[in-house]
Amino acid sequence: MASYFSTFISGFQEVVKTALEKQLGDVSIKIILDGLVAYSSDRSLQTIKGLRFINNTFLLAHVFQLSKIEIGDRPIEAMMLAVLHDPELFPGVPRWAKKGAANFRIMAARENQTESVDGDLLRKSEKFFSYRLGLKINRSQPDLEVWFLTRSEGYGLLGVRLTRTQNSEKNLRKGELRPELTNLLCLVSEPSKEDVFLDPFAGSGSIPLERAKAFPFKKIIACEKDKDVFKKLQNRVQQAGLKITLGRWDALDLSSIASGSVTKIVTDPPWGIYSQSTSDLGAFYFRMLAEFIRIVPVGGLICILMGQKGLFETTLSQFPELRILARYDILVSGKKAAVFKLRKEKDEKGSS
Ligand SMILES: C[S@@+](CC[C@H](N)C(=O)[O-])C[C@H]1O[C@@H](n2cnc3c(N)ncnc32)[C@H](O)[C@@H]1O
Repeated sequence: MASYFSTFISGFQEVVKTALEKQLGDVSIKIILDGLVAYSSDRSLQTIKGLRFINNTFLLAHVFQLSKIEIGDRPIEAMMLAVLHDPELFPGVPRWAKKGAANFRIMAARENQTESVDGDLLRKSEKFFSYRLGLKINRSQPDLEVWFLTRSEGYGLLGVRLTRTQNSEKNLRKGELRPELTNLLCLVSEPSKEDVFLDPFAGSGSIPLERAKAFPFKKIIACEKDKDVFKKLQNRVQQAGLKITLGRWDALDLSSIASGSVTKIVTDPPWGIYSQSTSDLGAFYFRMLAEFIRIVPVGGLICILMGQKGLFETTLSQFPELRILARYDILVSGKKAAVFKLRKEKDEKGSS
């Protein structure tokens, strides 16, 4: 079995653990931390690299227990010295993991911040890894990266990066969510092939597009009120050639959608930061939830990405029909947010 570690959006450990077990089947999880998981699996490299809810994946060479080595205040350098003293800590890399690579560089990150390393030690380490990997050094545009990183929980990890960062923020459309996040949001809603899925605040369509690309479904509906945003959404869905039903509707009055007909809602409503029209956000969220309760059957799931956590929780407390199954606190573009997983437990008349 090959060993890997992958990084993911902090706050989603539970969702990532379940998804990893479900999607890889044979996986053995060794360490799971806030935003990082180390595991072994026999699945193909293509399958491992294809995990859509992951930010980056590395082939794991060694896990250091930082409490067990002399780290001082430079834990990365302590890890590098440990490897130079005991070369077996980096047992080499299988051919498939460096396929097509001619050169490499060494990267160091301490608790998610890249860190520079003493020049002399870096050169010695480069020489060591160059020999071990059979690759030249290229500090600016390498084909492969060897990573040393440390975590505040007391772990240090050494590995070879297998993935490239997907869409960076600047490649995304205005307000568009990162693909790993949209995949995680869909996972929170427990996707099934019987689902009638709705995103009533679709914007650029990142959530319904991810649902259509990555999971089975019966029907996907995307709704957007703004004329220009809707037009762009239409074009994008058309270009993608995916089966998504579009509606230029108001999410607070979804009269085109029959009561009890939508099994899953996953959405990212306005947080009231940019929009003037949602100044009375409490009333807006109240009407939104009332409409969601109407279109979802008892047992239906509603997953909402929300920046206004306090206000939203107050509004939620007015709906005894909804039960909070989970709340995942995360950061979205550096802003505090939460994903609320809600289940409709009873209908408006109180029958469950
Ligand atoms: C936070 S953005 C959604 C961004 C989307 N998740 C994406 O990745 O592009 C909220 C969207 O809801 C739309 N919107 C605001 N009020 C609405 C309403 N009453 N009904 C439907 N859409 C609305 C806005 O035009 C905006 O596109």
